[in-house]
Amino acid sequence: MKAIEIRNKYLNFFKAHGHHVIPSAPLIPENDPSVLFTTAGMQPLVPYLLGEKHPEGTRLTDYQKCLRTNDIDEVGDNRHLTFFEMLGNWSLGDYFKEEAISMSYEFLTKELGIDPSKLSVTCFAGDEDAPRDDVAANAWQKAGISKERIYFYGKGDNWWIAGDEGPCGPDTEMFLDTGKPACGPDCQPSCNCGKYVEIWNNVFMEYYKTKDGNISKLKQQNVDTGLGLERMTMLLQGKETPFDTELFAPVMEKLKQLAKVEHIESRRIVAEHLRASMMVIADGGRPSNIDRGYVLRRLIRRMTRHLNKLQIDLNELEGLIDLYVDTLKGMYQELEEKRNIIKEVIVAEKDKFVKTLSHGEKEFDKVVAKAKLENKNVIDGYTIFKLYETYGFPPEITSDLAKEQGFKIDLSEFDKLFKEHQEKSRLGSEQKFKGGLAEQNEQTTKYHTATHLLHKALQIVLGEHAKQNGSNITTERLRFDFTHPEKMTPEQIKQVEDIVNEQIKRDLPVTCEEMTLEEAKASGAMGLFENKYGDKVKVYTIGDFSKEICGGPHVTHTGELGHFKIKKEESSSAGVRRIKAILE
Ligand code: SER
Repeated sequence: MKAIEIRNKYLNFFKAHGHHVIPSAPLIPENDPSVLFTTAGMQPLVPYLLGEKHPEGTRLTDYQKCLRTNDIDEVGDNRHLTFFEMLGNWSLGDYFKEEAISMSYEFLTKELGIDPSKLSVTCFAGDEDAPRDDVAANAWQKAGISKERIYFYGKGDNWWIAGDEGPCGPDTEMFLDTGKPACGPDCQPSCNCGKYVEIWNNVFMEYYKTKDGNISKLKQQNVDTGLGLERMTMLLQGKETPFDTELFAPVMEKLKQLAKVEHIESRRIVAEHLRASMMVIADGGRPSNIDRGYVLRRLIRRMTRHLNKLQIDLNELEGLIDLYVDTLKGMYQELEEKRNIIKEVIVAEKDKFVKTLSHGEKEFDKVVAKAKLENKNVIDGYTIFKLYETYGFPPEITSDLAKEQGFKIDLSEFDKLFKEHQEKSRLGSEQKFKGGLAEQNEQTTKYHTATHLLHKALQIVLGEHAKQNGSNITTERLRFDFTHPEKMTPEQIKQVEDIVNEQIKRDLPVTCEEMTLEEAKASGAMGLFENKYGDKVKVYTIGDFSKEICGGPHVTHTGELGHFKIKKEESSSAGVRRIKAILE
């Protein structure tokens, strides 16, 4: 069975069971700067899992493009992928455990034709947060799984949450026995020896966990499921790796023909990273030095480096991209639509990297010559960092080269220096999120400060739930997105304007302090976005009125702002309102 057939079977099956098929959200989350990429099918659905009404009803199904880069360094082995497709079905306060499990069983055994005796499942063993999941286990038994193939594990295996805050709950996971020999008498699904491969996960999302670890019940009981398409395709086709399926095989073959040396890991890295880069670019991503852009840059660089390792002429890249588009366009129409731009972006980034490489390699040779002269066998972190900062020479490549030449590397100091460097980038990126456009002038600075006043005023008038969801500033206006379930009344709008104008009249001083994120939180500062890169943040205080984590810049006194006026209040997306305002 081909991947596209599995996808279609899945969507049709759930459609026949009352689900509405929704389109895949882009890989780059809309209106959500707090996460870099879409990593699971549930991510775009969070507001609806929390209780918001979805326009298409309470039963949904889709295929979702996902990118997970935590394991980027593992790519090259026989299973890791950064980009993958997740098939999912959701109950938003509709069916729960029994029905979800009975549908999963039916789909696996009837639609995909998997022999029921090859299936094992795991359920939550129970703890102080939630009871042992006998309901799920009984549902499995009723469906047709025998008791000895039902396992119970704790939170480490059978609890699912994205990150450290959000909707979550116990899950039940399905495993396929590959027929490989057991690793010992205790061999079971959790042992990771390769005999049992996880194929599907049903999460019973009825809880919400806050950052400080509090778990409470959600308004509704949801089901969130995820089935990895590449892995299922590989298993049903009896292949050893996803690279042997039709999704990768033509490109893997072509790489083999072009390569002057055989190196299977390098071929997999090229095939995997090229596909992931193409998908990110098709959804609007572009290489840069921070955040999403840096992930894409890393993917393209690592791919280029491995093309070099395979001794493949880099001019072959365009042909490889064409081959990939032709291979995958039936599944991802956007690749065909964006074929040219994908080529332009990847080739330009490759060219840039080739220059960096040749500069960096020269400098690296000097470092090696010096180390040899001094009889050293370690390249220290400071040198690795300097190569990175001055020549843009990536640390992973310095490490590779050092090892190839018989040197050890000491990354401890590098990590410290790199963290400081990222901190600088973070401040830059915070600015980008807050400012939208990187443009900074007198007028945009005023709008930054006005945005803080507006944010606080909204919380006073509407309540603390009215939190920032996005912001964009130009010289003409500010635009501010915030969470609020309904349209603001004209009275509320007027109240907000009055409060902001009152603070402007008071001519409050604006001051800035640097502190750790914890200190900022303890001081009561409003935090806008998830802090990701280290712990120092800037906190801007406006008199006694507002305190907020922000990259700045701001005016020194609110009196400079002029008169504040809301021009528009409208819906931005479900549960999110948008205000456009000006300073006159
Ligand atoms: N959210 C769960 C996962 O990613 C189920 O889809 O595994």
